[in-house]
Amino acid sequence: MISVAIDGPSGSGKSTISKLLAKKLGFLTLDTGALYRAVAYYFLKNNIDYKTNEEVIKNLKNIDISVCHDKNVQLIYLNGEDITNFIRTPEVSSAASNISAIPEVREFLINIQRDFAKTHNVIMDGRDIGTIILPNANVKFFLTASPENRAKRRYNQLIKKNPNEKIKLEDIINSMNNRDFNDSNRKISPLTPAKDAIIIDNSSLSLKETVDAFLSAIKERATIETK
Ligand code: DC
Repeated sequence: MISVAIDGPSGSGKSTISKLLAKKLGFLTLDTGALYRAVAYYFLKNNIDYKTNEEVIKNLKNIDISVCHDKNVQLIYLNGEDITNFIRTPEVSSAASNISAIPEVREFLINIQRDFAKTHNVIMDGRDIGTIILPNANVKFFLTASPENRAKRRYNQLIKKNPNEKIKLEDIINSMNNRDFNDSNRKISPLTPAKDAIIIDNSSLSLKETVDAFLSAIKERATIETK
């Protein structure tokens, strides 16, 4: 099996790039942020205090998460219910960032990620894929962009999805800065490039230029035939 790891901060374009690469290469994607979001969603939905570590740890045994793909689209199930469309809200984003700093939560989600890579050719994106989850990935990337670029992209995505909602760019910038800080400064598995990762800053690259940069590095390192 071939695995490509893509780590990077929120809004860097990891999931868009992953989907495009997966299509070109005939791989599946695993967006691991969705797993943390699913755990966070459980706590929000059941009104359980996710800011108290003991509460979170105690409840993990009640959570069953699974992933499947329908026509290459990743679906995520929480205790048998398809929650794919409920996990992209700002509340879930913020709660996911909180719970992802708890070592037991990270441990809880390790096997689902590693098992997926054992059974599929995968483009896996997250924060610690190249460093912790798949240290032997065939190719590792760290994708980043300036905070302004990332916030604007997230803003455009949200406006497109919810045209009637009042969304402020300033709020997105603030919440992105908070999440970046949490994700990069937590004690366990902080967001950091693997030593052998190829670093791509796409602040001034078009989508096509970014995909081409990935593809040429993958071809060079993993000698994969593109479709
Ligand atoms: O990529 P995302 O925005 O969907 O991720 C949601 C949160 O989950 C993010 O704040 C950090 C966390 N996360 C993580 O800690 N490790 C991963 N591999 C993926 C996401």
